[in-house]
Amino acid sequence: MFVIRFAARNFRNLEEEEIFPCEEVNVIYGNNAQGKTNLLEGMWLFTGGHSFRGAKDAELPRIDPDTGKNMSGTALAMDFFSEEREQSAVLQIENGRRSTDINGVKKDAGTPLVGKVRAVIFSPEHLLLVKEGPARRRNYLDTALCQLKPSYAPVLTAYRRALMQRNALLKDISKSAQLSDTLAVWDARIARLGAQVIKERISFTDRVAPKIAGIYEGISRGREKLSVRYSPSLKGGDTLDGIEELFLRELSRTVSSDARTGFTSVGPHRDDLEIEIDGISARSYGSQGQQRSSVLAMKLAEAQILTELSGEPPIVLLDDVMSELDRGRQDYLLNHLKGQQVFITCCSPDTVELMENGMRFRVECGAVYPEEF
Ligand SMILES: Nc1ncnc2c1ncn2[C@@H]1O[C@H](COP(=O)(O)OP(=O)(O)OP(=O)(O)O)[C@@H](O)[C@H]1O
Ligand SMILES: [Mg+2]
Repeated sequence: MFVIRFAARNFRNLEEEEIFPCEEVNVIYGNNAQGKTNLLEGMWLFTGGHSFRGAKDAELPRIDPDTGKNMSGTALAMDFFSEEREQSAVLQIENGRRSTDINGVKKDAGTPLVGKVRAVIFSPEHLLLVKEGPARRRNYLDTALCQLKPSYAPVLTAYRRALMQRNALLKDISKSAQLSDTLAVWDARIARLGAQVIKERISFTDRVAPKIAGIYEGISRGREKLSVRYSPSLKGGDTLDGIEELFLRELSRTVSSDARTGFTSVGPHRDDLEIEIDGISARSYGSQGQQRSSVLAMKLAEAQILTELSGEPPIVLLDDVMSELDRGRQDYLLNHLKGQQVFITCCSPDTVELMENGMRFRVECGAVYPEEF
């Protein structure tokens, strides 16, 4: 899919702006604090999701410079090509509430947009995917799996609930030995659900890993190899039954130490996705550019998976991705991402010079100027 027209009114620092991007790479450049990220944020909201910056909807309307209050009439509009036809959507934000209009049909919430406009976003906060602990990497797998396989979300939710019940029970078990029987029931449930979560995550990793590796090879011009591997806290067990059996054994082996801490120490909630560059951990040893390239590869691989899923590529939004990348890597992003619409923000006009094809927009004080090549 691709955006044909995007317009913003009284959104962040954008008063009344409209762009007609090209179907390939669009670079949005300008100095700091001019409105580049605001533009991407506006487009992202059409996925039906929350702001990728964690902003509340009440923060999105333009603040009146004279009164310091939110202005009314905040609206975003997008004409896009998807499902083999031109479509249009309008998103209004008033008093912290969203309402939408899709192809002329009005809805009183933002959720009807979900699935209509698909996008993948890289923003500097996503670097934590590599830099931080395993929770964010598990979240990467779970989010992708929920989109890919609708039956996964209820299993994951049921697992999390069962785990909370078990942890609560562990805290009480020292006071009442009879609770052991109840614990056995929860253990069986956790082992069954947990085995499904692990199995799905492993098969997703097997599917996405070659894509991530291929993209990383492109970004690094074949100089470095990136590998991702699912790293379970339960070692061994290939089949669903095998993992379940192993999980059940481990739960009973660790029960006394778990009872002391009130926390279940094994299971998919403790697993990780190992990211290695040339055989060593990207988290511990990766340079800034390598870590950035790893996250980018993971995000672009997510876009490939979404393409397989829906039959058309999502929009790729890359916020502030260029800093810390050398010329070769910047060139890859500007000139070698084929077959999908890309929006890239950056500060330096020098970076824009590397671009061979596409469109560029200069942003200054909330105004967007398309520029000739
Ligand atoms: N609700 C709002 N109303 C008016 N102005 C806003 C609002 N929210 C943010 N801004 C302004 O928008 C500007 C920031 O825009 P944005 O984050 O898009 O900058 P940027 O061009 O991406 O800069 P950088 O290169 O530093 O990332 C700031 O000056 C900020 O004060
Ligand atoms: Mg920005």
